[in-house]
Amino acid sequence: MAKKNDTLKQAQKGKNDEFYTQYEDIQREVNAYLEYNPDTFKDKTVLLPCDDPEWSNFTKFFAQNFEKLGLKKLISTSYAIESKPYVKDGYQYTIADYLTEYEKTSPQYDAEKSPKFGKIFTLTRRNKKKINIDDLQWSYMKGDGDFRSDEVIKLRDEADIIVTNPPFSLFREFVAWIMEANKKCLIIGNVNCISYKEFFPLIKENKIWTGCRFNERVNGKIMTFMVPDSYPLTGTELYVDDAGKKYISVAGTGWYTNLEHGRRHSEIPLMSMADNLKFSKHKEIKENGYQKYDNYNAIEVPFTDAIPDDYEGIMGVPISFLKYYCPEQFEIIGLDRYTVPQEFLVGGRVAIDGKPKYARILIKKRVQNNDN
Ligand SMILES: C[S@@+](CC[C@H](N)C(=O)[O-])C[C@H]1O[C@@H](n2cnc3c(N)ncnc32)[C@H](O)[C@@H]1O
Repeated sequence: MAKKNDTLKQAQKGKNDEFYTQYEDIQREVNAYLEYNPDTFKDKTVLLPCDDPEWSNFTKFFAQNFEKLGLKKLISTSYAIESKPYVKDGYQYTIADYLTEYEKTSPQYDAEKSPKFGKIFTLTRRNKKKINIDDLQWSYMKGDGDFRSDEVIKLRDEADIIVTNPPFSLFREFVAWIMEANKKCLIIGNVNCISYKEFFPLIKENKIWTGCRFNERVNGKIMTFMVPDSYPLTGTELYVDDAGKKYISVAGTGWYTNLEHGRRHSEIPLMSMADNLKFSKHKEIKENGYQKYDNYNAIEVPFTDAIPDDYEGIMGVPISFLKYYCPEQFEIIGLDRYTVPQEFLVGGRVAIDGKPKYARILIKKRVQNNDN
């Protein structure tokens, strides 16, 4: 357990950001948007920043599906090897860990440029009939490929949709970078990000929401990422597959997006308060009912499926509610820590019987507009 926490802490500090997303995870997520709207990516320029294209399944997936998605242009950029903090600080990895056979055997390979500059891969629709991954063109960038550089900012401005698994340690900055340019996005993040003071207001205002897969197991597994070969194999969250590739499972991971998908518009099936008190599968609800917070005019609802559908006031629900949140059904009022005046909080949380509760999202039933 201690080792698992160490791994997560290091990732948050920027020490272990070298996690690569699996092809199936990208494919499953993108398919969900296509099911809702087959034209989601049609005629769009997609930018994959922070991507290490030679390692990345994002580049592979979008290049292989260029035609199927109807893309206009695909741009993928990587961060220079020497700029990666893990290399710079001599932490675990060396330049050799990143230099691929693909780069070394390319005619444009330059041993001096390679560690210092980012790389850019592009695929553009031409008159040619079929476009596939072999049509990807690459070159060294002018700078190190930092997403905050003018060079990548220009690419961002050219793009319609930004897709990536950004460095965990720079998540807030990365989201701000997307939002300031008013772009569409599909990115990976952790459930903990919800309570960031810069990020929660975006959720509240429906500027970003949870994607289809969010903090959930698929085939019994939490989200798992490939790590470089030299990643130290400690902790139970790591495993090696038959081909010798190493993987790490990261609890609480999922997708955030501002692209529309079907689940977001399907209402959670709920019972009335009276029915919950009689028939809820949670004995806490049947035995204790819905308690009022001492310090805030709302009721505590500890389970999303126990939200009473006829309660008109404010309800405190677990953060996991966001996975099922349908903006036509509920309005988000706040997150306890930011909504309730600090002086009323016990230990920074809304309280029942003077005891602090876990972080809660405060929601209210949306009043149906029957005007038409
Ligand atoms: C979590 S990994 C994800 C890689 C890839 N997108 C994927 O999912 O397979 C984040 C990547 O961002 C790179 N990175 C870190 N800081 C960066 C920065 N300031 N600008 C651009 N990329 C950065 C890391 O080196 C790493 O390769």
